[in-house]
This record gives sequence, structure tokens and C-alpha cells, in this order.
Amino acid sequence: MTARIAILASGTGTNARALLNASAAGILGDAEVVVVASDVAGSGALVHAEACGVEGLFVDPASSDGREAYGDALAAELQRRAVDLVCLSGFMRILSPGFIRAFQGRVLNIHPALLPAFPGAHAVRDALAWGVKVTGTTVHFADELVDHGPIVAQACVAVEPGDDEERLHERIKAVEHRLYPEVVRLVVEGRTTIEGRRVTLRERTGVR
Ligand code: GRF
Repeated sequence: MTARIAILASGTGTNARALLNASAAGILGDAEVVVVASDVAGSGALVHAEACGVEGLFVDPASSDGREAYGDALAAELQRRAVDLVCLSGFMRILSPGFIRAFQGRVLNIHPALLPAFPGAHAVRDALAWGVKVTGTTVHFADELVDHGPIVAQACVAVEPGDDEERLHERIKAVEHRLYPEVVRLVVEGRTTIEGRRVTLRERTGVR
């Protein structure tokens, strides 16, 4: 059965675009992106959705009274569309515990640092300020804490002399655009097992 994927994104949406393209190209396995939801009207992610012929949905935070209510509203929209897997792609809001419970073990996030180093909204800036020589990106299952859940995959990016936040983030994003679709495919194929903090990857056993 085809897995139905929702992307949640607030910003420019280059990761959303990478997932949309992968979906259109059949690279996500037996899965398709059915909706891109955003808390920002006219966000880049919504523009990419429209360009790909996928539903773009603005869920207005101002229409909900607080984080719990917003999480409930978002979850209801996704459940209405029978979404199986949620991919956070630069969604700049902390999701409510209720939302995470509604999609337990079915929410992925991508973060532009090698977690647990540099969680939070300024990961690239923080890594540069710390003077690290290597940083990267992490795809993990989301739990109720920020940038905290079990890690599925990570990839490294070297910090180069003269890097500023924008330049380094661009190189990290180039890696993210390859890694995120690969991880989504692994999850869709049922090849990930979560035990506590650890995610193990199984060999592919089916014919696909
Ligand atoms: C990405 O670097 C992602 O890791 C982080 O937010 C950024 C979103 O970028 N969570 P974009 O909107 O996908 O271009």
C-alpha cells in the first residue's frame, strides 16, 4: 500500500523540494508526498508544492489558541488526508506532545548539525562559533523534545576556511537533499527499527 507523506515546512523549502522531486521520480519507494503544510502563507515550500501539482496547505497559527490547539489542528488536517509519515523540513515551530502522540514513531526531522551537538534554531551559526572542523546533518525521529529523538542517519560536512553561516549552510543543504529522500525510503520500506534511542537498519528482504 502506498505510504502517504506530509511535509511540514516554514521557509525556503529546498528540502521539501528535494522530497517532492524524489516522490515524483519514484525514488521514495512505494510512497508519495500528498500534502505540503506550512505555518507561513506563501512560503517557498508551498510554492514548490504547487509547482509539483501537490496540495499546499497553509495552517494559520493565528487561528489556534496556543501550541496544543495548533498541534491538534495540524494533526486533524493530516489525519483527514490519511497521512502515514510526516517529514519536518525546516518547520520552525515546536510541535505539541499531542501531535507527536498522534503520529508516534512516524515523524522525521532533519537538522543541520551532527546531533546531539548544536540543537536549536541556529545550529550552523553555533557550530561555526564553536570552531568545529566538521559538522553535518542529522535525520531523526521526532519526539516531544526539540532535536532529540532517535537518530536514523547522519552525514558530515567539513568546515572550510572563510565559511560564513550562509555558505556552510548551503553545503549542508546540498547533502541534506540527498540524505533525506534516502532515509524516507528506508522508513517507508519498513527497514528501520526503533529500540530506545537506537535505530537499527535491516537489510531489504522484499523484492522491491
Ligand atoms: C535545513 O537545513 C534543515 O536541516 C533545517 O532547516 C533547514 C531548512 O531549509 N531543519 P530549507 O527550507 O529546506 O531550504
